[in-house]
Amino acid sequence: MRISVIGCGYLGAVHAACMAQLGHDVVGVDVDAEKVALLASGRAPFFEPGLPELLEETMATGRLRFTTDLAEAAGAQVHFVCVGTPQKRGENAADMRFVDAAVEGILPHLAPGDVLVGKSTVPVGTAERIAERLAEVQPGATLVWNPEFLREGFAVQDTLHPDRLVYGIPAGPDGAHAQAVLDEVYATPLADGTPQVVTDFATAQLVKVAANSFLATKISFINAMAELCETTGADVTQLADAIGHDARIGRRFLNAGLGFGGGCLPKDIRAFMARAGELGADQALSFLREVDSINMRRRVRMVDLAREVCDGSIVGRKVAVLGAAFKPNSDDVRDSPALSVAAQMALQGATVVVTDPEAVANAERAWPQLSFAATAEEAAAGADVVLLATEWQEYRDLDPHAFGEVVRGKRVVDGRNVLDPGKWRAAGWVYRALGRP
Ligand code: UDX
Repeated sequence: MRISVIGCGYLGAVHAACMAQLGHDVVGVDVDAEKVALLASGRAPFFEPGLPELLEETMATGRLRFTTDLAEAAGAQVHFVCVGTPQKRGENAADMRFVDAAVEGILPHLAPGDVLVGKSTVPVGTAERIAERLAEVQPGATLVWNPEFLREGFAVQDTLHPDRLVYGIPAGPDGAHAQAVLDEVYATPLADGTPQVVTDFATAQLVKVAANSFLATKISFINAMAELCETTGADVTQLADAIGHDARIGRRFLNAGLGFGGGCLPKDIRAFMARAGELGADQALSFLREVDSINMRRRVRMVDLAREVCDGSIVGRKVAVLGAAFKPNSDDVRDSPALSVAAQMALQGATVVVTDPEAVANAERAWPQLSFAATAEEAAAGADVVLLATEWQEYRDLDPHAFGEVVRGKRVVDGRNVLDPGKWRAAGWVYRALGRP
């Protein structure tokens, strides 16, 4: 199939490369000339495991190219809209400017029979609005809503081997045609037995935000339990293991700690609440406000714990923060709990040095007032307290004896419950964690 992918960020760049890997002929389009130049030279503009190799492999086949010129999307049979829907400044709602611009930009290049595929996470009702616009400008083309569920750090694997494929299609022959076209695009994963749900626009759009709301709720649930553990002396990691053995609950996404961040979960639950409000259904989602509050409280609690281990004050104390990315195996610092904690501590008078294996450059751009170091040892040199904020494997693997040599005070706050308290305490450290005695 000839495919265009509009927007080459975390979603689109991976999607374009994976579509080429599946055998299609793909053009990726982005307005950012720098990003396009990098991709066109076969380099990934962000850290994503497996993407550089995939780019190299697929570019060599001649089936993948990148451009800033949307006109080059003309001639493709399928056009994926993969641009971002960030949170609006000062509001909970999603900023739809990029989606609207992408759609308006591609409309003049569509031909009868083409399929326009929405992948961006959008407020329910967006697909219906785009379909109306499409009917005005190019009635021979059809819209499908096909949300993506990829996780950063596993984006290539999640795109090539998705958990499920969801299509929101219009009723009638146009919908059937669009479904057949998309089935051809995804022929390989479908042949592998990937479950498929074919539904209407509204359901397809809701599936994505419902899934992310559920995941956010699961994380905030265990973090609420962590608060209870803190007041009762219980251990939330054992509690999670024990309830996780119940197959109905499941252990995944029950890791208590600093909570969720990133470019999706926080803004998606807020945009969902905002949309429900517009639709007069805000009561249905009022629990998400609590999910958000629990999540944000964990960041405050982490700062308080650091203060506690520093005998009541962090003013003038040197703090090493291990991790800047919102999660390991990513260089994404959007709404990163690690940086939020680092910034709060700096604002409260501590001298903070942040390190991360991949995200220092992005973190420095977002928080230029913070100090950064290339390694954990450098960040922790002379530190009074070490905060583990993002659970990169290399921080999990730190040797408490050797690491104890570089700090001034052996105090560690484990924000992700990944260090072995016994081992660290035996090496002379004061160990504290969220939700653990
Ligand atoms: C998420 C969804 O998982 C994905 O399906 C969707 O397409 C986009 O949003 P992503 O943002 O890449 O993906 O991150 P995810 O792996 O879901 O983690 C989100 C946040 O939750 C991270 O900050 C992570 O540290 C945190 N988290 C995750 C926890 O605090 N505890 C857990 O048990 C799991």
